[in-house]
Amino acid sequence: MQIGIVGGTGAAGKSLALRLSSLGHDVALGSRSLERALETSAELSVHDGLVGAINGVANLEAADCEIVFIATPWDGAESTARSLAKELSGKIVISMVNALVKVGPEMQPLLLSRGSVAQSLQSVLPESYVVSTLHHVPAKELGEIGRRVESDILVCSDHLEPKKRVMELVDSIPGLVSLDAGSLANSAAIEAMTAVLINLNIRYKTRSALRITGLPRN
Ligand SMILES: NC(=O)c1ccc[n+]([C@@H]2O[C@H](COP(=O)([O-])OP(=O)(O)OC[C@H]3O[C@@H](n4cnc5c(N)ncnc54)[C@H](OP(=O)(O)O)[C@@H]3O)[C@@H](O)[C@H]2O)c1
Repeated sequence: MQIGIVGGTGAAGKSLALRLSSLGHDVALGSRSLERALETSAELSVHDGLVGAINGVANLEAADCEIVFIATPWDGAESTARSLAKELSGKIVISMVNALVKVGPEMQPLLLSRGSVAQSLQSVLPESYVVSTLHHVPAKELGEIGRRVESDILVCSDHLEPKKRVMELVDSIPGLVSLDAGSLANSAAIEAMTAVLINLNIRYKTRSALRITGLPRN
């Protein structure tokens, strides 16, 4: 599968590109600057264990893929999505964006007027299928492609078939278990939970991850 990453030059985008490539997908790693995208893809492409190609492209080209991740900071996500609305029309758009702010030593969630970043993306991308997921996996763990990432992963969307496809993609990452967390309205809670996990990591000097009990497991 050809997967695009808008904002692919950051920590999250680079790790995602490595992980997706290791699973055999071709990645169009996007940036506002083609030069930065090419530099980043060249840097990543020497990594051991890659299968699919990682090609540096402008965000516009990344948005032309069948499945497109948005991996920008929260305050640039909506305007970026709006500018790519034509290319993203009819596509599955995966938001891993968290609206967080540092207050003193602590990360805190921002309460957005639309409820969540994912909902604000869906509002400016009415012709796209926005799916919200992978908010809690730290870039470092995601990018260590030889290692499993042990975590449940909450996935929500207002579009059932796209949500199912994204759950399959999440499940293909060794150690991750996707869970259907309902409609996009639930993304606010999921995005906000990221701040809690980061604070736990700081307080307990660890890498926390979500594991939900009480569910039937295979
Ligand atoms: N880092 C993690 O561990 C992690 C884990 C899960 C989820 N997330 C979420 O994933 C997103 C990306 O995280 P990150 O740590 O990779 O962020 P980042 O490094 O701050 O930003 C990622 C990329 O977004 C582009 N960008 C920056 N400001 C922008 C703007 N105003 N408009 C459009 N593009 C802009 C930049 O690429 P160009 O300048 O090349 O365009 C930058 O390299 C965040 O929303 C974060 O909450 C992060």
